[in-house]
Amino acid sequence: MMRRKFKHIVILTGAGISAESGIPTFRDKGGLWEKFRLEEVATPEAFQKNPDFVNEFYNLRRKELLKVRPNAAHYALAKLEREYPGKVLLVTQNVDDLHERAGSRKIIHMHGELLKVRCEKCGYVFKTHEEIFTTTPCPACRQKGGLRPHVVWFGEMPFQLEEIWENLQKCDLFLAIGTSGTVYPAAGFVEISRQAGAWCVELNLKPSAMADLFHEHHYGPATQVVPAFVEVLLESLVKDKN
Ligand code: OAD
Repeated sequence: MMRRKFKHIVILTGAGISAESGIPTFRDKGGLWEKFRLEEVATPEAFQKNPDFVNEFYNLRRKELLKVRPNAAHYALAKLEREYPGKVLLVTQNVDDLHERAGSRKIIHMHGELLKVRCEKCGYVFKTHEEIFTTTPCPACRQKGGLRPHVVWFGEMPFQLEEIWENLQKCDLFLAIGTSGTVYPAAGFVEISRQAGAWCVELNLKPSAMADLFHEHHYGPATQVVPAFVEVLLESLVKDKN
């Protein structure tokens, strides 16, 4: 790895970082998109047509999330945020809360959060561990039928894109961890940060669709490659001091 002190790190994570915690990814063997048709559970049209089915899909995933725990890769990124003297921003496509449970604080959930629900009638967003149904009243406006998972579906705009874009323009190290590089706009972040002059590193089980655009690659399970990479970054600071 380039032994350099970075001032501004942006980290993009995907389903691969949570795989070893027991959350299936989307596109790997046995992944969610093998069991469910994306068009039937992850689009606004699907929710309009069959809200009970879509709610059930997210109720189930919410319930599963409560049973799993963060892994060594999540903890390593939280440690990096705590100990690295430069700016560290975590942008995740994951809807799980494992980064937060591991201690990450500066985090953008660009695809939303499984443990949040939004009322489409009044706009209220709230945290919940409970199941939601079309008959569940909104805790703010009391109306029924407006609640939906606070996640981004295909055809919807990811959250906080402007803030992400600004950080990509300014960062000098971009890390992509456990993401297949197939879903835009996240798949395009490496191009943006690279053009802005950042050193780009891919940490993944195997080369992603965007692998050629990265300067450096580390392949292996996230629980191994992420803590190892974080240690190298933190050690380079100690070496600089001596
Ligand atoms: P994918 O399922 O597309 O890709 C998972 C990536 O993680 C693959 O590149 C795997 O090689 C890698 N991987 C699997 N196990 C790993 C491990 N133990 N350690 C390291 N890497 C591992 O998931 P995402 O790229 O996150 O969007 O998918 C992007 C978006 O597509 C999701 O946010 C979701 C989905 O449809 C929406 O629902 C809007």
